[in-house]
Amino acid sequence: MAEFTLPKNSKIQKGKHFPAPAGAKSPRTFKVYRWNPDDGLNPRVDTYDVDLAACGPMVLDALIKIKNEIDPTLTFRRSCREGICGSCAMNIDGTNTLACTKAIEDCGKANAAVPIYPLPHMDVVKDLVPDLTHFYAQYASIKPWLRTQTPAPSGRERLQSKEDRAKLDGLYECILCACCSTSCPSYWWNGERYLGPAVLLQAYRWIIDSRDEDTGARLDDLEDPFKLYRCHTIMNCARTCPKGLNPAKAISEIKQLMMARKV
Ligand code: SF4
Ligand code: SF4
Ligand code: FES
Repeated sequence: MAEFTLPKNSKIQKGKHFPAPAGAKSPRTFKVYRWNPDDGLNPRVDTYDVDLAACGPMVLDALIKIKNEIDPTLTFRRSCREGICGSCAMNIDGTNTLACTKAIEDCGKANAAVPIYPLPHMDVVKDLVPDLTHFYAQYASIKPWLRTQTPAPSGRERLQSKEDRAKLDGLYECILCACCSTSCPSYWWNGERYLGPAVLLQAYRWIIDSRDEDTGARLDDLEDPFKLYRCHTIMNCARTCPKGLNPAKAISEIKQLMMARKV
């Protein structure tokens, strides 16, 4: 389980309680972090009792039900609701994950309250929405596109052997949800300069792409005491990734490439 710290702006107060409707057949309690930068109040945790008999199976279903039927002020991000867009990443029951693929029945003990917080150690825009501006700027800094020196074969795409294509498995599936980076203690303490597991996994995805012709420059860009070498193999990233990826392994592969070109 990913280690959990509270979001940065957290002097948390007791919040409101929204009881389940009369006659609820299967109530379950959700304790949800709330903070609105515009109301001047400290963060609080509101308690919502949701009737699971009239709710979909995933945590995102419960959040949508709360917003639609109980408290329209609750704010969170979501789009695809099938683990593809990465926008519903949050800390549920102590672990960074996707609300849309996390089943309510898999949260803690049956009938225990389900705590829901924004991704840890990030500035909060509102409620469950973290500020990912810096994370996206770091992603842009690795130039995440095919960089080539030679012209493409005329009239056709750049081809790749099946073996070279297979090297992208375990990397291309990353949806940039930031669950890994925000579970990484090194990223918590050095996030201004350490690129963190998500962005380094993406960097490696381009470094080992057989069609990319800028490998040397990509490695040069990472040759820095902070950008890459703040990973201390704590492995929270691999434990928490909701897509089952292993950013720590990708980081280790980059380090090996760095060493190989020095000998
Ligand atoms: S590696 Fe996994 S946890 Fe990290 S951003 Fe990609 S999908 Fe999310
Ligand atoms: S293995 Fe590296 S990137 Fe992953 S959590 Fe640990 S320090 Fe962070
Ligand atoms: S809503 Fe897209 S990943 Fe959850």
